[in-house]
Order: sequence, then C-alpha cells, then structure tokens
Amino acid sequence: MSKNPCQQDHETMPICDFFKKFKRLRLFEPYLGVGFFFFTVCVICCFFYLDYWAVAKGYIAPNNSERFRWLKLDGGGSIENNNRVEFLSDKGNECDLFDGDWVWDDKYPLYQSKDCSFLDEGFRCNENGRPDLFYTKWRWQPRQCNLPRFDAKLMLEKLRDKRLVFVGDSIGRNQWESLLCMLSSAVPNKDSVYEVNGSPITKHKGFLVFKFKDYNCTVEYYRAPFLVLQSRPPAGSPEKIKTTLKLDQMDWNSWKWRDADVLVFNTGHWWNYEKTIRGGGDWRTGGTCHLEKLPELGASLVPPETWAQFKIVTDVLSTRMNTWKINVLNVTYMTAQRKDGHSSLYYLGPKASPAPLHRQDCSHWCLPGVPDSWNELLYALFLKREATHGLNSSTHRAQV
Ligand SMILES: *[C@@H]1O[C@H](CO)[C@@H](O)[C@H](O)[C@H]1NC(C)=O
Ligand SMILES: *[C@@H]1O[C@H](CO)[C@@H](O)[C@H](O)[C@H]1NC(C)=O
Ligand SMILES: *[C@@H]1O[C@H](CO)[C@@H](O)[C@H](O)[C@H]1NC(C)=O
Ligand SMILES: *[C@@H]1O[C@H](CO)[C@@H](O)[C@H](O)[C@H]1NC(C)=O
Repeated sequence: MSKNPCQQDHETMPICDFFKKFKRLRLFEPYLGVGFFFFTVCVICCFFYLDYWAVAKGYIAPNNSERFRWLKLDGGGSIENNNRVEFLSDKGNECDLFDGDWVWDDKYPLYQSKDCSFLDEGFRCNENGRPDLFYTKWRWQPRQCNLPRFDAKLMLEKLRDKRLVFVGDSIGRNQWESLLCMLSSAVPNKDSVYEVNGSPITKHKGFLVFKFKDYNCTVEYYRAPFLVLQSRPPAGSPEKIKTTLKLDQMDWNSWKWRDADVLVFNTGHWWNYEKTIRGGGDWRTGGTCHLEKLPELGASLVPPETWAQFKIVTDVLSTRMNTWKINVLNVTYMTAQRKDGHSSLYYLGPKASPAPLHRQDCSHWCLPGVPDSWNELLYALFLKREATHGLNSSTHRAQV
C-alpha cells in the first residue's frame, strides 16, 4: 500500500506543509534550530521501547528555592533508599522503572564529553559554551527500586560477538552516541573502537557501525526517521507532493539490521505539528529552553494530546507484547521534566555557538545528559532480560 499524506482529508493536511518545510530545513539532520517536539518509539531486540516526550501547556513552575528544597529532601532520602529493592533481584520484578524522580547525584555524569570522540559537535554543549553543568548531575531514581549502577565492562561482556542496533531518527542517534560514550569509557585503548567503514561521526545520513574490537561487538545506528519506507511520489502525483510513506514496508536498510541481537527503535519526532513546524512559543508550546537550568521536579509536563497518541501506540503494542517479547522504554514522563537538558543555543560547535535566540534546539539533548539515563534504563532491562531468559555459560562467566 502506498499512502500519500497530501491526498488525505483535512486532518492530515498539515503533513503536506510539514513535508515542504522538511525540504527547506534539510530534512532529518540532527540540528534543526527550532524546538522540535518528539516522541519516540523504540523496540529493543525483541524489546519494544516507547519513548514519548512532550510538554504541557500552562504548567506553573515552582520557583528555584522551592525546587532546591525539594531536591535536597529527595536526594538525601536515604531512609527511602534503604527500603527499595534492587531491580535485578527477584523482588524487583514488579518495579515500574519509569515511575520515579530525578535526584541530584554528585557522582554524575558517567563520562566527560571531551574524553569521548564519538560525539557529534552538536551534542557537546559544555564545549560549545554552555556555562552551567547542572544538567549533567541528575540521576533517575525509580520510586520502588534501585537501578543497577551502569557497568560498561559488564555490558560489553554481555554484548560479546553481538550486534546492538539503534534504528530511528536523530533522537535515536542522540541516544546511540550517548551509549557509545558510556561503553567506551571502559575501554582503555580508544583506537580499538572504530567505525568499520572509516566514516566520521558527523556524517548525517545512512548508517554508522562502531566496532569494539576487544569484544567483537558492534553498536550501530541506522537512520530511518519513519521506520517505514520513505520514497518518491507515484507518477502523476500533484507537484506539491514530495514524498510518500509505504506503511506496510520497512525502511530500505532494514535487511541490514534485522538480524541484530538487540534492536532499539525510535520514531515520532517528525509526527508532531506543534514542535516541528510551528516552532515559536515557550518550551511548552513549541519552544524555548535557553537558560533553563533545572528540571521541573515532580511534575508531568506531558500534554493530554500526547498521551492520546501514546495510547494508540500502547494499544497496538499491548496486543502483541507477549508474542513479540518486546520491552517498552516508557521514558516520556521522566523526560518531560527535563527542559534543562536541551542543546538550546549550544549546538553549532565551539566557534559558531551560541546560536541566535530564535534558532534554539529544544528537541535534542546535551551529552552527557538525559539520554544517558535512557541508556541506564536500557542497561537495566537488558540485564534483567538476560537473567530471566536463560543465559549462556559465557554470559554467566562475565557476570562474576
Ligand atoms: C519562592 O518560594 C519560597 C518558598 O516557598 C518563597 O518564600 C518565596 O517568596 C518564593 N519566591 C518567589 C519569587 O516566588
Ligand atoms: C508510562 O508511564 C506513565 C507515567 O508513569 C504511565 O502513566 C503510563 O501508563 C506508562 N505507559 C506504559 C505503556 O507503561
Ligand atoms: C565475531 O562475532 C561474529 C558474530 O557477530 C561471529 O560470527 C564471529 O565469529 C566473531 N569473531 C570472532 C573472532 O570471535
Ligand atoms: C549460547 O551459546 C552457544 C554457543 O556457545 C550458542 O550456540 C547458543 O545459541 C547460545 N544460546 C543462547 C540462548 O544465546
């Protein structure tokens, strides 16, 4: 089936505009100045992963002193900490990882951007002149359980001889680069981590395959913003139609990644009119995020219409969760509290940043930063899955 968005009824009409603007903005490149809304659907291996992020209209932020007081209580909440079970223990099976709080943790970040060569210039906010580092100091604390501390060596051991693949848009790429930095922090010889085709990390299109030589594993990224096939309009289409999506066919490159051991899918970034096309407005209505230094602790900024879209996805998935054996990384709620974590004006490289105020990037994330927390959750689910689905002797050994 070939579906042409511009021939749909009026409800889908904005998509035509959307495609036109895509072209002007050089579609799918990671650094579009305006504030993009995104929501993301991720599938992890047989895991399905849904990350869906948005902002609410009209939420009134508590002032800074209130936020800090709150933070102190929570960050120092050792009594509560002691009562939490470990997610990886049997008692942790019922724990909802995505229900929790951001807590200040001086041990963070997990790496420094200057020590990681696998980062696009655009994510290096600090090196691009962002003055505050608060955004690197927050750890996600699930309410009912503790996450395992990220152990890059252990993860690499578990990935030995395997392929971990990210497929999706530039937000997926954001997360992929974060994981490259997190994993490579445990590799002393940085030359043993390399792109198999020698492609530079700044390459925007196609795919990139990084090999960790000592572990014979690859951590790969495939750009497929819609996951499904995007192609030319059929012959005879009106001129304003620039592209079509084939909803029943996977992206061109899907044959390359379908045999991966772990697959992380994300999409959605391009489906939201408010954040992609309209721009303007404050963070909640399309936005600005410059000078945001603190998370909106304890508040959900996800607007109701976001949850409506989210519900469609979860309804579809819930009927298949068991057959597909997938996990959903439901990071929408936690991520919606982190308007302080965006690249904002600091995405143009050390020389050209800061960008002008009207070209803020409020969709991508500074690294180190928020995507590291998504990867810590991915790590926890990955270990849990291995533990429950029976492990090979080799993997058991690695755990010791
Ligand atoms: C911020 O909150 C504190 C504590 O609730 C209050 O005393 C102070 O007046 C507030 N400041 C502003 C500017 O609202
Ligand atoms: C995702 O998290 C939110 C907030 O905790 C929750 O309301 C929602 O039910 C979760 N959705 C899924 C599919 O787990
Ligand atoms: C590396 O991993 C691949 C599977 O991804 C496997 O086919 C190959 O034999 C491994 N190479 C070595 C030297 O172990
Ligand atoms: C465990 O490893 C063996 C090779 O050592 C492989 O044949 C087998 O498929 C693996 N099993 C699982 C569950 O990964």
